[in-house]
Amino acid sequence: MTLIKFKLNGIDCEIESDPSLRLLDVLRNHFKLTGPKEGCGEGECGACAVLLDGKIVNSCITPLANVHMKEVTTIEGYRETNKYQVLKEAMEFENGFQCGICTPGMMIAAESLLSKNPHPTEEEVRIGISGNLCRCTGYNMIVKAVLRASKKGEGIW
Ligand code: FES
Ligand code: FES
Repeated sequence: MTLIKFKLNGIDCEIESDPSLRLLDVLRNHFKLTGPKEGCGEGECGACAVLLDGKIVNSCITPLANVHMKEVTTIEGYRETNKYQVLKEAMEFENGFQCGICTPGMMIAAESLLSKNPHPTEEEVRIGISGNLCRCTGYNMIVKAVLRASKKGEGIW
């Protein structure tokens, strides 16, 4: 057992645990944050995506040890930000919201992209969300929503 300390959605927290546990399981089972979802469980689909020090990671392949003294943001924390509001409104406008399995990861991927590149091209958006899979969509509405958010959110990213 190891004491792991980190910031979770802006709040200092710690957990005495096996450091090899998957971050996804710790978030969902211990902290009851069920926004990150388990899709493939092997780092391929992005349903479990969270931000680690602002960068997107797949929490299903991230050991708890990796978050020690770092900052984790899940969709629950991101939801409290102005950026989320802008992105949410753009997703609603473009009918970009899909199911509850893929959407949290898509939102995290969009945030990760826009925080690095506030004015992405369409191709850059497609590349930015390419780690997030959905078998039900052609992605076009999501791409349009991210482009719309980048315009509507001028100055906040
Ligand atoms: S569940 Fe983690 S990448 Fe698919
Ligand atoms: S996986 Fe969510 S809508 Fe396809």
